[in-house]
Amino acid sequence: MNKISDNANRIMVIGGAGYIGSHVVKHLVKSGSDLVVFDNFSSGHRDNIVPGVEIIEGDILNEAELDNAMSKKIDAVIHLAAFKDAGESMEEPSKYAINNITGSLNILKQMSKHNVKYIVFSSSAAVYGYPEYLPVDENHPLKPENYYGYTKLVIEQNIEWFSRLGDIHFANLRYFNAAGYDVEGVIRHKESNPGNLIPIVFEVAAGIREKVIVFGNDYDTKDGTGVRDYIHVDDLADAHLKSLDFILKDNSTTLNLGTGEGYSVLEVIRMVEELTGKTIAVDIAPRRRGDCAELIAKSLCADEILGWKPKYSTLKQIIESMTCVYI
Ligand code: WQD
Repeated sequence: MNKISDNANRIMVIGGAGYIGSHVVKHLVKSGSDLVVFDNFSSGHRDNIVPGVEIIEGDILNEAELDNAMSKKIDAVIHLAAFKDAGESMEEPSKYAINNITGSLNILKQMSKHNVKYIVFSSSAAVYGYPEYLPVDENHPLKPENYYGYTKLVIEQNIEWFSRLGDIHFANLRYFNAAGYDVEGVIRHKESNPGNLIPIVFEVAAGIREKVIVFGNDYDTKDGTGVRDYIHVDDLADAHLKSLDFILKDNSTTLNLGTGEGYSVLEVIRMVEELTGKTIAVDIAPRRRGDCAELIAKSLCADEILGWKPKYSTLKQIIESMTCVYI
């Protein structure tokens, strides 16, 4: 596999021990890139990181640790470190402001100090809030409905400003619903105490959890339950490498990463039952605060600009990639 680009000697993956970060690291290693992982292991795990990768344990809130790590001739940063629980962000906004926003500003400060001019940033569809039209394209109004989504928007806007003022090139990547596990089965770490639907359904299938609480079946959707655009983590990782290659040619962009297909909560549950042979117990509960009925991406830009197309993101592929970890 050839390197990402002749411009990039050394890439720092901040949050590289996490769910998405570890898949980005694995894809970078396969591409022959020279990289270092910077992580505080608050939620990520060392055993998520493929062997042979340099690891620096550090916190984005510790400027000295960031300064020291970035003084080792870094050419580009991929920043995936964040607290990401939308519900928790509404209960503890300061925790999210400090970690996500201040931490990101620390990264931008050290990038300026060490003349690092390229950043790929892990943003989220949560920056859009309730969709005013579907599918959601990159021009959709930016009205986050939870504080987590607000932190992602603020960071995107700061990256844009630092780009204008300091000649930084960036890719802000707005993930829709990340799901699935490593299609090669190398990274086999399942989340502990997941907050998202699909790992919760698998915990029921695996007998770890008694039932799935379905938050509302009275939405104006195909079967009354919430519809989301699930994107496989390997497809997300591929988009990060293509984005890096794009910005290393001194470009910048903001892109949706999704499939354009939506699946309901009940469709997800049925697919897990079909592929695992397990029966999933369900309780219908009232809608969850902050949830929208349907959120589906228009991500044609990522195809046009990066030549990126999802390869692993049908619901069946996503569920199959998780079955071997749980069952
Ligand atoms: C999906 C659907 C729920 C759990 C969140 C964040 C978003 C992003 C992805 C980081 C919804 C329903 C869920 C359950 C349920 N995070 N559900 N019972 O809320 O679309 O997005 O994760 O970038 O910012 O908001 O994902 O998996 O929580 O929910 O019925 O126990 O499943 O109502 O319709 P969500 P989710």
